[in-house]
Amino acid sequence: MAVAYVMEERLEWRTWVTPRPLEAKPVHRWYVFPHSFTSELVKGLAQEWELGQGDSILDPFVGAGTTVLSAKEMGISATGYDLSPLAVLAAKVKTTDYQVEALREAWQVLKGTIVEYLRYQRRGDLSKPYAELVQRALPGGLLEAFDAVLNHICLLPASEEEKDFFRLAVLGLVPRYSRARATGGWLKWVDETEGVSTIPDALEQRVELMLEDVERATKMRPDSDHTACRVERADARCLPDPDGTFSAVITSPPYPNRHDYTRVFGVELMLAFLDWEGTRQLRYQSFHSHPEAHPVRPRIKGYSVPEELALLLRKIRQGRSDPRVLAMLDGYFRDVFLCLRELARVCRPGARIALVVGNAQYYGEPVPVDQLVAGIGEQADLLCERILVVRYRGNSAQQMGRYGRNPSRESVVVFRSPGPGSSKNKEVLQN
Ligand SMILES: C[S@@+](CC[C@H](N)C(=O)[O-])C[C@H]1O[C@@H](n2cnc3c(N)ncnc32)[C@H](O)[C@@H]1O
Repeated sequence: MAVAYVMEERLEWRTWVTPRPLEAKPVHRWYVFPHSFTSELVKGLAQEWELGQGDSILDPFVGAGTTVLSAKEMGISATGYDLSPLAVLAAKVKTTDYQVEALREAWQVLKGTIVEYLRYQRRGDLSKPYAELVQRALPGGLLEAFDAVLNHICLLPASEEEKDFFRLAVLGLVPRYSRARATGGWLKWVDETEGVSTIPDALEQRVELMLEDVERATKMRPDSDHTACRVERADARCLPDPDGTFSAVITSPPYPNRHDYTRVFGVELMLAFLDWEGTRQLRYQSFHSHPEAHPVRPRIKGYSVPEELALLLRKIRQGRSDPRVLAMLDGYFRDVFLCLRELARVCRPGARIALVVGNAQYYGEPVPVDQLVAGIGEQADLLCERILVVRYRGNSAQQMGRYGRNPSRESVVVFRSPGPGSSKNKEVLQN
C-alpha cells in the first residue's frame, strides 16, 4: 500500500527558501548562513496558521536564527537550538535586546585597543595553538590580528551578551579575509585576500551597521514587549523541553546533500569556539546529512525503514556506490524520525510543524526527501497536512551530463500534531 500526500505548488515562495533577501534586512544581515531561509517564510506560515502573542515557536535547527528573530519581530516567543556553537552565538546575539549606549561605550574601548595592537603586533604572537586549517586560511599576520581582537573582546568591561555582540561582528568579517572560501557547501582556496591593515576600518563599518540596527529595533519595540527568546546548544534528536511546550515549529534540518557545516564554517569554529578535536566530534555528532557523520543516537523505537527508501537503497547498492553514501541516506532518515518524534512530544495537540527540506539525487536515483519525511512523520505520530513545493533546483552539471536533467524539489512539509478534531488529510492509494 502506497500513501500519497496532498502536494501543492507554491512557487511564488521560491525566493523565501534562499538566504539572499536576508542580506539587506536589519539584524538578520548580521550573520547569514548559506542555508538560511527568509523571514518572509516564517511570517507567511505564522500568518497562515494565525499565530499570535500567546504562541510559542520552536526551531530545533536554529542556524543563523531566522525563525527566532522573525518570531520576535512578530511579538511571538521563540526557542532555538543548534549543535553548532557558531549558530547559537549568531541566533542569540540577533535576539538579545541591547542598550545601544552601553555597546557604543564598549566599542570605543575596543576600537582603541585594536588600533594600538595593530601598531605593535608581532608575528607568531598567539594566545593559543590553532588548527592548521585556521593557520593556512589566515596567513600574513591575519590570524594574529583576529586572535588579538577576540582576546581584547574577552577583556572588555562589558556583559557577556555585549561581548558576544562584538564576537559576532568579528566572525562576520572572517569570510572577507579567509583564504578558505565557502562556496555553497564546500571550501575553495583562494590566493589573495585583504591584508591586516584594513581590519580596523572593516570592523568599524560592521559594528556601526549593527549599532544602527540595534537603534532601529529599539525604537520599533513596544514598551510592553514581553516576547521571550531563548537560544541554546542542544541536539534536535533529544530536546530538553517538557511535553506539550510549543504551539508551532518552523525549521530546516540539514539537507542530505553531503554538505558538512563543520567544514564550511571550519575556520570560524576553530578560531573562536573549538579545537580540531572538538570540531571533529561536532562533525561526527551532527545530523547524518554528510558521509563523515556517525552520530551517537538515542534509542530508536517505532521506526521502520520506509519501503520506498529500502527499494532505493537496494538499487543504489547494486551500482558501484560509496558505502558511506548508503549509510548516510539510511542514517539521515533515522535522524529525521528521532527529530520528528521529539517534535511530536514537545508540541501541544493541534500544533503546526513546518520542515523545509530539499530532495536529492544519488547515482541517477532521485531521493524524494519530502515524501519520505511526510511518511516518517506519520510513524512518529504526526499528521502530514500537505507538502508545499516551493522550488525546483537543477541537478549538478556532473549529474546532468551522466544522468540527464532531473530537477529536485525543495518543499515545506507541514504536519499537525494530533489533537482533538484533527483528521488525516491524505489519500491512501492501493498499489
Ligand atoms: C539548514 S541549517 C538551518 C538554517 C536556518 N533555518 C536559518 O535560517 O539560518 C541546519 C542547522 O542544523 C544544525 N544541526 C545539524 N545537526 C544538528 C542536530 N543534531 N541538532 C541540532 N542542530 C543540528 C547545523 O549546525 C545548522 O546550523
